Amino acid sequence: MTPSPDLASLYQLLAKERRPILPSGERRAILGCGYVGKAVAKDWKQEGHELWGTTTRHERLTELAELVDSPVVFDSTDSRSSLDFFGNLDGILVSFAPSKSAQVDVVQYRETFLGGIQVLLDALGRRPSDAPLQLVHLSSCGVYGNRRGALTDESDPLDSFHPVNEVLARAEEMIQSVRSENINVCILRLGGIYGPGRDIPGMLLSAAGGLVQRNGRNVPCWIHLDDIVRGVSFAFERNLNDTYNLVNDTQLTGQELSDRLCEQAGLPMTRWLTMDTTDRVLNARVSNAKLKQLGFTLTQPCMAD
Ligand SMILES: NC(=O)c1ccc[n+]([C@@H]2O[C@H](COP(=O)([O-])OP(=O)(O)OC[C@H]3O[C@@H](n4cnc5c(N)ncnc54)[C@H](OP(=O)(O)O)[C@@H]3O)[C@@H](O)[C@H]2O)c1
Repeated sequence: MTPSPDLASLYQLLAKERRPILPSGERRAILGCGYVGKAVAKDWKQEGHELWGTTTRHERLTELAELVDSPVVFDSTDSRSSLDFFGNLDGILVSFAPSKSAQVDVVQYRETFLGGIQVLLDALGRRPSDAPLQLVHLSSCGVYGNRRGALTDESDPLDSFHPVNEVLARAEEMIQSVRSENINVCILRLGGIYGPGRDIPGMLLSAAGGLVQRNGRNVPCWIHLDDIVRGVSFAFERNLNDTYNLVNDTQLTGQELSDRLCEQAGLPMTRWLTMDTTDRVLNARVSNAKLKQLGFTLTQPCMAD
């Protein structure tokens, strides 16, 4: 249809004006503004979303106020904590993790993940509307456990032996229980996270010439912080409603990866153990094909480049 003369001149006028960057108008919450949550908050703030963000610590509220519109204290281990603040949200990223102790402690995992998700489910049950809601839950490829290096995708069984993996698998189940006509639930199983301040290649290089007390024959998986932020955005843009591995293309054993890094840096090789210790093990060539088939691309496909 040809626009009327008046409309045509209006279009011409508008074409000359700089387009304002409109806020998307979405209301989103980030449960657990730690390493990943903060990076996502920065990205979402630039996109113009109205943001809520949680921390367990009052002393972090001022720092968080730089990143989100409404910083909130939420601690799943505190029975007074609730998530009722969020009313009519369009999206929620679940990115909390036990961060109080450096050691992996199953009780803390249980309290943080299962306790936290239960509070979330209770709050969703009291949601005042049934408007569409996108949930993205950050899980871990650790749930696959020891698959003896086998190629592994999202349809493969999860490890039911290690108690931490049991907790992570239960957390996935719990969060998926809210999936409905109005609520999409996307689970992103992350590889080991690296990026600024978490310099895994640097850590591996610092062991050059020494002995690492872990089984170097196991195959771990990795993902750069930038690609997590992009993966989370991708999940929200595409309204994903399924489970995806979010890992890079590196499918090397620990020994192979550190050999490659040491060689590139001209450093002596590191020796690794050739048998398992009591540590929790991921030993699987984790596939990222399912997410890539949807058009997702990685900016940091390989840790050793
Ligand atoms: N690290 C990895 O290599 C890795 C691998 C696979 C998957 N993941 C998953 O990726 C996600 C993000 O990890 P990250 O590295 O960003 O974690 P992180 O830096 O340790 O941040 C964790 C966040 O959770 C909050 N938190 C801790 N205990 C809590 C509790 N009991 N109740 C509520 N919130 C609590 C922390 O609060 P404060 O602000 O008070 O610290 C912090 O904001 C997590 O779901 C994690 O399981 C991580």
